[in-house]
Formats: sequence, structure tokens, C-alpha cells
Amino acid sequence: MSGLVRTTALPWAELARFPLAAGPTPLVRAHRLEAALGIGPLLVKRDDLIGFGVAGNKTRPLEFLVGAAVQQGARVFVTGGGPGSNFCAAAAMAARAAGLACELHVWGDPRSANLALATAAGATLVPTGGSVREEVDEQVMARVAQLGASAYGVPRGGSTALGAVGFAAGAAEVAAQLAAADVRPGLIVLPVGSGGSVAGLLTGLAAVGLDVPVLGVSVSRPLDEIRAKVLELAAGCAALLGCAAPDPGALTLVDARGPGFGTASERERAHAREALWAEGLLLDETYGAEAFSAVVDLVDPPADGPVLWWHTGGLLPAVGSLLKGPA
Ligand SMILES: Cc1ncc(COP(=O)(O)O)c(C=O)c1O
Repeated sequence: MSGLVRTTALPWAELARFPLAAGPTPLVRAHRLEAALGIGPLLVKRDDLIGFGVAGNKTRPLEFLVGAAVQQGARVFVTGGGPGSNFCAAAAMAARAAGLACELHVWGDPRSANLALATAAGATLVPTGGSVREEVDEQVMARVAQLGASAYGVPRGGSTALGAVGFAAGAAEVAAQLAAADVRPGLIVLPVGSGGSVAGLLTGLAAVGLDVPVLGVSVSRPLDEIRAKVLELAAGCAALLGCAAPDPGALTLVDARGPGFGTASERERAHAREALWAEGLLLDETYGAEAFSAVVDLVDPPADGPVLWWHTGGLLPAVGSLLKGPA
């Protein structure tokens, strides 16, 4: 099991983990952004600075998913996504770092910065031949069935119960930082795509006993659908960790699909520009701008503590939108 470590804290200690992140990501107060937008107090969890390529929050599930693939003795990591998939690029880099081949089943036009990075990391792109996102997962599972134990497959976004363990460990990471600073947030806000990050966060917060409500900003799925998926992933994650499933009442979801997946509204882009100007934060149009805009527009300052906004990354698409022209 060379390259694997055992986690040292809480229930995930027994699971194989392939280390990728450079360490706890910074938790910082955004004073200038608070002043610019008249909001706050605002804490930012900087997963954009996670220190593995530009993989952002997707580094967290990949530590456990690649750990499991190595433990299984797999030789190829099979997954997929669309042109803008941060997970595909992150998976390609993580697989390469662990000495695994990577096969990515991709829908849509493959000419994108993220897929170029995946290719540079040595991944093989297999076009689904269609533009339907859901086809990717079917194709991945069919390919894994064909290859047998030499392959380890995960659906789009790495959102499985095991992948969610990565963000559960992230919850413990932030809980330790908050305890050290003697701060308790009133709310945690993060973007929600395939749902694994928020599922793991809820599970981890419950596991470490940090009772803070979570606002998930859904960017790609209607609320009923994503809520059911998140709670199912959280229950699976909790079962893997041997802890109780989190209280569904801790999660509020808002629908931020707006003009469509991957496109921010004018208002969201204006908020992203303020974040860039005030703090040097780069927000992408799929996840970051939507979640941050929800912080600005939907969150009243909680009386019982600052808002903690989880900046999940998306750096390559963020630069890509700047290339399209001024907001
Ligand atoms: C930058 C970024 N933020 C947030 C998310 C959403 O995470 P999840 O798919 O776990 O809900 C993703 C998913 O790809 C992402 O790439």
C-alpha cells in the first residue's frame, strides 16, 4: 500500500487515504469584501488554495477514492464529466500521482481548459458521443463492468458515500480552525453540484458535534432531486463512518440555476468582480459566483456568528470566463 496513509482523526482513520492536499486550507476573514458590499462578518474557507493542481474541493473526495482504488489493486481510474468538469481534471492528476491510468468519459465539446489539463496529466478521453450528462455515469459503470477489478469507477463529480468522506474530514478540519480561533459561525454556505461535498460536510459536522446550519446553493439540479440525493449520500457516508446520519433539518437548499448551468447572471458576475477586486478571489460562473451571490443576497447577518462561505475552487473556468471579456 505504498503512498497511502491512515488518517489520524475521528471515524475516517480506518479508511485508505491517498494524500493530495497541501494541508488545512486557510480560513480567513474578508474585511475588504465586507466593506465593499456592506455585508459581514464573513469568513472564507479557501479550498481554492488546496495545493493540488487547481483541483479545489474535488481534492477532498479524491484522497479517499484514489486511496480505495490503490487499495483494491486497480490499474485504471474511470470516471467522467463535461467540458467544464473540475473533477475530471482533478481525477486525472490524482490518478497520475498515484500511478494509475485514468479514463474519462466526456459529453459535449472536449475543447476546454479542464479537459486539456486532464489530457496533459495523461488521461484518455472517451467521448460519449452525446450531449446528455446522465449518459456519462452509465458509460462509466459499463466500462468498469467490462474491465473488472483492474478498474475503479466513480460517477460524475466523485459523489459517492466514500467520496463524501473527504468533505467530512474537511468539516473536522474547519472545526479545529474555528475552535483555535474561538469562533462559531452562524451559517456555512457552499455551492452544490453533484452533492457529495455538502453531504460530507453535514456528516462531518455532525460527527464532530459542530451544530451549525448549512445553506447549499444548487447550481444544476432542482431542489427536490438534489435534496434527496444529498441526504442519501450523507446517510451512506455516515454508515461508512459508523456515525449517525446528520439531521436533515441542518440543511437548507436554494435553487441558483438561473440562466443555466455554467452561466452566471449579471448580478452574480458583479458580485464575483467585487470579490476579485477586494480580496483577489477568483470565482467561476458555475459554482463560485452563484454561492457567493447567495451569501450577499440571501443571508441576513446571523445574530449568532459570522457567515462561513466555502470557496470551492473552479479556478480554470474562472480564468476562462475572464478571457471572454469584462463582466
Ligand atoms: C469548483 C466546484 N465547486 C463546487 C462543486 C460542487 O461540488 P459537489 O459536486 O460535490 O456538489 C464542484 C463540482 O464539481 C466544483 O467543481
